[in-house]
Amino acid sequence: MNEIRILDKNFRELITEQAIKKRIEELARQINIELEGKDVVFLGILNGAFLFAADLFRRIEFSAKISFVKLASYEGASSSGSIKELIGWNEDIKNKTIVVIEDIVDTGNTIECIVNELAIRKAHEVRIASLFFKPSAYIKDIRLDYVGFEIPNDFVVGYGLDYNGYGRNLPSVYALVG
Ligand code: IMP
Repeated sequence: MNEIRILDKNFRELITEQAIKKRIEELARQINIELEGKDVVFLGILNGAFLFAADLFRRIEFSAKISFVKLASYEGASSSGSIKELIGWNEDIKNKTIVVIEDIVDTGNTIECIVNELAIRKAHEVRIASLFFKPSAYIKDIRLDYVGFEIPNDFVVGYGLDYNGYGRNLPSVYALVG
């Protein structure tokens, strides 16, 4: 099925389940080579990154921890709106190598907020893994270390990403039509 409807909008398949799986295997391979021997905590950003975090982390071959935090935004804020705070910290990240696991980097506001928070908490080193990246929307200059797919500046759903809360369970990724 190449076209789907969620609420009032139509979406067309952009990246298949197989392509996502293959790309995550490649990213995991790179991380396994580059970070082996370090004291690593993977930090998944809820809600969107939960599937990517699970699929990436299960392919990590060295001993490492995983933890999750959630972004609490002001009500009504758009993706690029102001961010209130990161909640749910239950892992001491001081002096650790942190791999932030994000679903998608759009303007970069969210990732900047996370990186600032990790600096306050005195992480030793921060790497960023994002399954999707919209280069034409990006307004920051924070380096993204592990990017799954560069995509056009279209709204996407599936594989953890939602439209008004729906679509996260779709195994492929779909882009808004029209
Ligand atoms: P940024 O702060 O503008 O980089 O936006 C990042 C956050 O906005 C992501 O973690 C998503 O939660 C959300 N977001 C950005 N683009 C999309 C999209 O195309 N579909 C669904 N959520 C998105």
